[in-house]
Amino acid sequence: MPKIVIGITGASGAVLGVRTLDAFAAAGVETHLVVSRWGQQTLEHETALKLDDLRARATQLYSSGDMAAAISSGSFRTMGMVIVPCSMHSLAAIALGMGENLVHRAADVVLKERLPLVLVPRETPLNEIHLENMLRLSRMGVRILPPNPAFYNHPASVEDVVDHIVARILDQFGVSAEFSRRWDGVMRHAR
Ligand SMILES: Cc1cc2nc3c(=O)[nH]c(=O)nc-3n(C[C@H](O)[C@H](O)[C@H](O)COP(=O)(O)O)c2cc1C
Repeated sequence: MPKIVIGITGASGAVLGVRTLDAFAAAGVETHLVVSRWGQQTLEHETALKLDDLRARATQLYSSGDMAAAISSGSFRTMGMVIVPCSMHSLAAIALGMGENLVHRAADVVLKERLPLVLVPRETPLNEIHLENMLRLSRMGVRILPPNPAFYNHPASVEDVVDHIVARILDQFGVSAEFSRRWDGVMRHAR
């Protein structure tokens, strides 16, 4: 079974991480999840979920302090990693190779193995440090995928907005994501 590494950090938008986890699992991909300390805090603040709920939904949940975890080695083969949502703190740590937890270490491993790394950075507005870190990572091949809502597909709910963003994440890994309507080239009025 293909394996994906998923990081959830302490930026707003924990629901995006949870939905990404569920979508990869539904597509038959093993999910190897690590949640930072502040990722857990925001998860519990923004949703009705606890970390143990994610343990039950993931193939494997690793402690963010566990540097001996399988995902901290390049010998554990995966299809890559997505960090969703990605805080500016984790973005900076990865850009500088100064990782202090397993989210950063797993990202560093994916970079050294030249595997796809997708970051879903959430902050607004952005300062020069944020922008420079994104550019630095983009030049290394990292896909920077801000969780911007699209309105051309006429979302009717927050779930629709979340699904659209999560579908674009799965697209980056070539994993089928037909739960969100794609642009079909037809202009039509919203109902
Ligand atoms: C409710 C809440 C919302 C936050 N939202 C953001 C955010 O959208 N973007 C961001 O970069 N940091 C945000 N932060 C700050 C991060 O949680 C903080 O920088 C933390 O150190 C990130 O650590 P991590 O990258 O290890 O998860 C938020 C913090 C809280 C408590």
